[in-house]
Amino acid sequence: MLRRLHPEQPDSFAFTPENQAWAEAQITKYPPGRQASAIIPLLWRAQEQEGWLSRPAMEYVADMLDMPYIRALEVASFYFMFQLSPVGSVAHVQICGTTSCMICGAEDLVGVCREKIAENPHELSPDGKFSWEGVECLGACANAPMAQIGKDYYEDLTAERLGEILDQLAAGKVPTPGPQNGRYASEPLTGLTSLKEFDSGHTKYNASVQRAEDAGDTIKRIDGSEAPLYTPWIDKGARHDPAPPDVAVRETPAEIGAAEAPAAETVKDKTEPAETGAAETETGRKPEVLSAPQAGGADDLKKIKGVGPKLEKLLHSMGFYHFDQIAKWTDEEVQWVDANLEGFKGRVSRDDWVEQAKMLARGETDA
Ligand code: FES
Repeated sequence: MLRRLHPEQPDSFAFTPENQAWAEAQITKYPPGRQASAIIPLLWRAQEQEGWLSRPAMEYVADMLDMPYIRALEVASFYFMFQLSPVGSVAHVQICGTTSCMICGAEDLVGVCREKIAENPHELSPDGKFSWEGVECLGACANAPMAQIGKDYYEDLTAERLGEILDQLAAGKVPTPGPQNGRYASEPLTGLTSLKEFDSGHTKYNASVQRAEDAGDTIKRIDGSEAPLYTPWIDKGARHDPAPPDVAVRETPAEIGAAEAPAAETVKDKTEPAETGAAETETGRKPEVLSAPQAGGADDLKKIKGVGPKLEKLLHSMGFYHFDQIAKWTDEEVQWVDANLEGFKGRVSRDDWVEQAKMLARGETDA
C-alpha cells in the first residue's frame, strides 16, 4: 500500500509539557551522538497525543533529534503502526485480513466496517468517531478472525459481534477484549484435550484480557498523565539506590543539574547552553570564538554533513559562525568542542568537520 502524507495538514505541532518532558528523558537512553535512536518512541508519543502523525509532528520530532525531516518520514511511512491520516476520535479499528482470519470471516468484518464506519479504509465515519483499515497478521491466528481496536485484541469475532462492539464503543462503553465466543484463550473450542491439570484456579479472564480489564484503558490514548519515564541512568547515584518503578523519577535532564550528573547528556541544554549556564568542560583547548558573525554574515554551517539546524544554532551560541574558523581547529581544539557540544558530543571528530570545513572554506560545495 502506498503510504504518503495526508493532503490536509495542521499548521503546527508541539508536545504537551508532560510529553515534552517524557520525550527529553527518553532521548537520554541513548549515547551521545545516537539521539536518532529515539525516533520510534518519540513518533509514537506524538501519534498518541494527536491520534495520527502529521507532517509538523514528524518535523518537530526530527528537530528534537537533529535528524533530516526525510529520515523521520521514512520511519513513519515504513511502519504500519504509524497512522499518516486522521483516525476516529473514539477508536481506529484494524481488521486482520491475513490467511487464518481471511478464511474464518475477515471479509464479513470488513463489511461491518464499511457499513458502520466508512466505505473506504482510513476514512472517518460521518461523526468522526471511528476509522478502520485492513492489516496483516496480528499474531492471534488461533483466534481468527480478529481485530485490534485501540490497544487490545477482539478475537473469535463474528460480523454480528463486531457490530455490537462498535455500537458499545459509540455509546461510550469499552467491551471486554479477548475471545468473543466464550473461549478462555486459544484452547480448542471443544475444550482442553491435554494439560488439563492446569485448567483450574485461573483468573476470570486470560492474562492479557485481565490486564486490559484492570487497566480499563483499551481505547484510551497515552496523554502524559501516566507514570513518567523511569530514568535512573541520569543520576548515577540511582544505580546504587534505585527508586522503585512505582515512585518513578520525573526529573528531566535539564532539571537534574550538571553538578549532580556530570555525565548526563541534556537535551534542553543542547540548543541554549548560554541561557542554561551549562559549565564548559575543560578538556582539550578552547578555540578562538567570535561574539558575532563577520561582515557578510555567517556561513551556512548546515553544509557540513552531520550539522542540522539545532546543531548550527548551538555552534552560533558558542561563537562559531564560519567554515574558516572550524577549518583551523587543532586536535586539541577539536577535543574541546567535542566535549562541549551538549547533546552532540563527539560529532566533530565523528563527522570530520575540520576536513569538511576546509573544503567548504575553499569553495568546494560538495564537502
Ligand atoms: S491471520 Fe489474523 S491474526 Fe494471524
